[in-house]
Amino acid sequence: MPAGYVLVTRKRVTSSNDALRALADQGAPEGTMLVAQSQSAGRGRYGRPWQSPPGNLYLSLLLRPDCPPMEALQLGFVAGVALGDVLSALLSETVSVQHKWPNDILVDGSKVAGVLLESGTTGGAKLDWLVIGMGVNVAEAPSETVFPATALAAHGCTLQPNDLIAPIANAVFGWIERWHEDGFGAVRAAWYERAYRRGQSVQVRFEDGARSGLFVGLDDDGAMLLKTAGGAQERLSYGAVFPDIEAAG
Ligand code: BTN
Repeated sequence: MPAGYVLVTRKRVTSSNDALRALADQGAPEGTMLVAQSQSAGRGRYGRPWQSPPGNLYLSLLLRPDCPPMEALQLGFVAGVALGDVLSALLSETVSVQHKWPNDILVDGSKVAGVLLESGTTGGAKLDWLVIGMGVNVAEAPSETVFPATALAAHGCTLQPNDLIAPIANAVFGWIERWHEDGFGAVRAAWYERAYRRGQSVQVRFEDGARSGLFVGLDDDGAMLLKTAGGAQERLSYGAVFPDIEAAG
């Protein structure tokens, strides 16, 4: 584990983000990392359930970022790029590892990992705590997902979840250092190298509709820049990305 990181392990929790949040409330320091073997109420973005059987990785990292909340959103991309580095080093070179906006990791076009950022403030200009939750499908992928899902085991990886903890901790630590030194530009450039459908047409789906356009890139807070049919550039802060079937067809 990198200097200053402390690992806490749990057999079963509701959500590793909740368990770590409880430690944060008791004063746990930045760098506390909680790993659970399974979760009874794991969640993804927008409160969607995250299937959490034993055999996959459920890891949450506590940070206390000394920056405005909008800037702290960049840490989701920092974690995503770190995860991408670890997974692409583990898997065969013939397998593609991609970043799907905002913070998903795809292996050969299917989702293998996701990142959930949660934070709180006591009213000051900075966040009091930020928890970066990372879920990696190591052994098993969820079934019946709208976007296809996969697991590392399906791509020849025989590692156990615990084998990933130190590499992920080191990669996230390294990328946080880089972010401090070189800013979001360095993180964004690394994310672009593996970006899913950047420069191509996408459909971004919301609960009550969808927007289609050309995925131009990331704004400074990680929002998606989308060029729509009329030529206008829009900023999207949430949504789920899919290939734009109509534009392609
Ligand atoms: C997403 O893709 O929607 C984000 C998924 C994040 C899942 C991880 S598993 C560890 C941590 N604990 C949770 O309850 N969620 C995150």
